[in-house]
Amino acid sequence: MNPQESTRPPRRVLVTGGAGFIGSHTSVLLLEAGYDVLILDNLSNSTVEVVAAIERVAGRRPDFVCGDVRDGALLARLFARSAIAAVFHFAGLKSVAESLAAPLDYYANNVGGTIVLCREMAEASLHTLVFSSSATVYSASHAPPLSESSPLDPAQPYGRSKLMIETLLGDLAATDPRWAIASLRYFNPAGAHETGALGERPKGIPNNLMPYLCQVACGERPELIVHGNDYPTPDGTGIRDYIHVMDLAQGHLAALDYLETHPGFIAINLGTGRGYSVLDLVEAFERVIGRTLPRRIGPRRPGDIAASWAAVDRARELLGWQSERGLEAICRDAWRWTCTGCPPRS
Ligand code: NAD
Ligand code: UD1
Repeated sequence: MNPQESTRPPRRVLVTGGAGFIGSHTSVLLLEAGYDVLILDNLSNSTVEVVAAIERVAGRRPDFVCGDVRDGALLARLFARSAIAAVFHFAGLKSVAESLAAPLDYYANNVGGTIVLCREMAEASLHTLVFSSSATVYSASHAPPLSESSPLDPAQPYGRSKLMIETLLGDLAATDPRWAIASLRYFNPAGAHETGALGERPKGIPNNLMPYLCQVACGERPELIVHGNDYPTPDGTGIRDYIHVMDLAQGHLAALDYLETHPGFIAINLGTGRGYSVLDLVEAFERVIGRTLPRRIGPRRPGDIAASWAAVDRARELLGWQSERGLEAICRDAWRWTCTGCPPRS
């Protein structure tokens, strides 16, 4: 949508971690919907070039501050400088493997950062928050579809940091009726902006399937290793709920609308409600690029579960939101980004 066509009065949203994968795509949608955007990012897992790419795609420039969400004095200055309507809190560390090696970093950054942010929000009488949670908060022993009331029991420090944050946000909302907080539990975000100008740029060897596949397709990696084909699934490979990053971004705007009239704390799944196996995704990707890719079956990856997909009723009923893009769009857009937009990491 052209920003001039928006009927919304301009309002300002603080997007922590807005230079990252999901925050950058969401910032584009906010700008296109007529919001002003202030990005706060310490660039620990992103680059300042992303801010220029957001401007190119949205046709409007977000304000950008390079800084850390744990810097309370900085937040206080930002809140004093201009009226902020809401905060989208993406800033955090997200590698499961890293969190096992350095749990304190994960608790300090993810939990500590959220505490500082919420304190400064309260000081500034700002009470609307959309938080990036994860499907990793669910118990691995529970069979999908996973609904918001499924048992919670994250298996690693990363997931536990997300659950701790959800718990503290629920406690916080109970202290003051002005708080309106949505914790969005993402399933498997993938894909890229359809222009090819924004996408995911993992550090080092990608852990996640989609970026790994893209690197095999462009020759950066020799082959895909399928982590196990002996799971109790139809083709033996792991099943996940892959959600296009632009659908996910749209879900954040729907959550923001919802919070305007619904104070309190709520957790909401953002997924498609459909699961696809590793081989489903590989074959969809091969159809998009028009060739097959080298792959071999390897052992199971420690910590992996057989199958995970979301129950999406709550998002549909409360937010009026559901995903629109399928597996093919995810593969097409991820591949376009790999070919055209994604700069190599130095
Ligand atoms: P990302 O790493 O691409 O983006 C996070 C951004 O936050 C980065 O730009 C990083 O530089 C910044 N950042 C990190 N710590 C910061 C701090 N203390 N202060 C300021 N900036 C900081 O990750 P993403 O994939 O865009 O994920 C965004 C959020 O969604 C994260 O909280 C992540 O845990 C959560 N999430 C992601 C996935 C996924 O698969 N991508 C799944 C579930 C949940
Ligand atoms: C991983 C994280 C999870 C996080 C999610 C974000 C682990 C154990 N879990 O989940 O906490 O929220 O990313 O999107 O790291 N696969 C291969 N070969 C590969 C890569 C992956 O076969 O090279 C398979 C995996 O075994 C799995 C599927 O592809 O069955 C998806 O893997 P991935 O993209 O890493 O996502 P998750 O395992 O769901």
